[in-house]
Amino acid sequence: MNLEEAKKKLETFGQEHVLKYYDELTDAEKQELLTQIDETDFAVLENCKNLGKSEGRGEFSPLAAMQVSEIEKRRDEFASAGIKALKEGKVAACLLAGGMGTRLGSDNPKGMYDIGLTKPVFIFQRIIENLLDTVKQADGSYIRLFIMTSEKNNDATINFLKKHNFFGYPEEKITFFKQDMAPASDYNGKVYMEGKGRISTSPNGNAGWYASMLKAGLRDLIQKEGIEWIDIFAVDNVLQRIADPCFVGATLLSGVTCGAKVVRKNAPDEKVGVMCLEDGKPSIVEYYELSQEMMDAKDENGDPAYNYGVILNYLFNEKALYEIAKNTLPLHVVEKKIPYIDENANLVKPEAPNGCKFEQLVLDMIHELPTCLPYEVVREKEFAPIKNKEGVDSVESARELCKLNGIEL
Ligand code: UTP
Repeated sequence: MNLEEAKKKLETFGQEHVLKYYDELTDAEKQELLTQIDETDFAVLENCKNLGKSEGRGEFSPLAAMQVSEIEKRRDEFASAGIKALKEGKVAACLLAGGMGTRLGSDNPKGMYDIGLTKPVFIFQRIIENLLDTVKQADGSYIRLFIMTSEKNNDATINFLKKHNFFGYPEEKITFFKQDMAPASDYNGKVYMEGKGRISTSPNGNAGWYASMLKAGLRDLIQKEGIEWIDIFAVDNVLQRIADPCFVGATLLSGVTCGAKVVRKNAPDEKVGVMCLEDGKPSIVEYYELSQEMMDAKDENGDPAYNYGVILNYLFNEKALYEIAKNTLPLHVVEKKIPYIDENANLVKPEAPNGCKFEQLVLDMIHELPTCLPYEVVREKEFAPIKNKEGVDSVESARELCKLNGIEL
């Protein structure tokens, strides 16, 4: 794209300020900015007017989870089906590590955070150790590990993992790919600049992973290796069980297109997304969308009907995902802290949210699929997310849970 074309595009979207410092840039920087303008979808910025507005959902109804009691009864059957699939190379894992971790407030990728007390214990290390547990159960069959980074943290992530020898995971079994980015704007939809020659961008949400994987050309590898299922999981749950054979087996034997690990809520109004049906298809209702009536609803055993929160660990049938890949997922507007340059071109890192980011969410991906099995896991054993510096879902709370599970820190 040349300068004239860039000007035209920016004018169409009311973003002319992007070229304010153009004349001060070096030739290489000019070219980079023109390329970024060319590649940026400014149309998404329109959505900032929807911030805080309810997103028009369908009709919710409960979706029963497979509970721990049933899982325990059938553990051997599920685990052996899962181990068979793992050994046959049908299952891959995908670590979603493209997020910015703004709440934790570290400049490094979240996985580099050290939660150790007497020795270093990095979040990435915990993840790999957990994956190695699965490998052990599958008699040493290493599974393909995809790691999604973003352009913001890709180099730091790869360098860190290399430096630590991938914490013992074979390098040839790891495939990195970068997720797509979306522009970030102020509340009026004016895109922020993070440098004189660079538009502020942020990763396009936790559902961007499959489209980005396809874009990176990884379907060839998936087909070549005979991968049929992909277990996606968040970087920040340090008790995460990955490609857990019992979960894999339960999902496969249930004949569904997707399995979702869920935990029993600890209060009807707990702030977690709850697995349910929406217009008869699997979905997730956010805690703030739960009406009192839904919170009071009971299932046939007298237990709360909307009782199982998702923990961002899903096993997807890859073919099913490929079929829905052409459908565009809705964009959600989220209020976030966005670094930007002020009128004097000084970089500001705001202390409070100052604008909008645009994300695709995994809940919409699930809603495109015909079936999903919510699979209950014991919260204290499998869910120790690190979102914040202190308080709820923090380094402290995760450390406590690690201790409870005999993990030395
Ligand atoms: P969160 O939604 O908690 O976001 O991500 P975050 O970026 O880690 O943290 P905050 O909200 O800025 O504090 C849940 C998981 O999804 C991944 C994250 O890396 C984490 O594993 N994620 C999130 C992505 O991979 N890409 C995204 O665009 C967003």
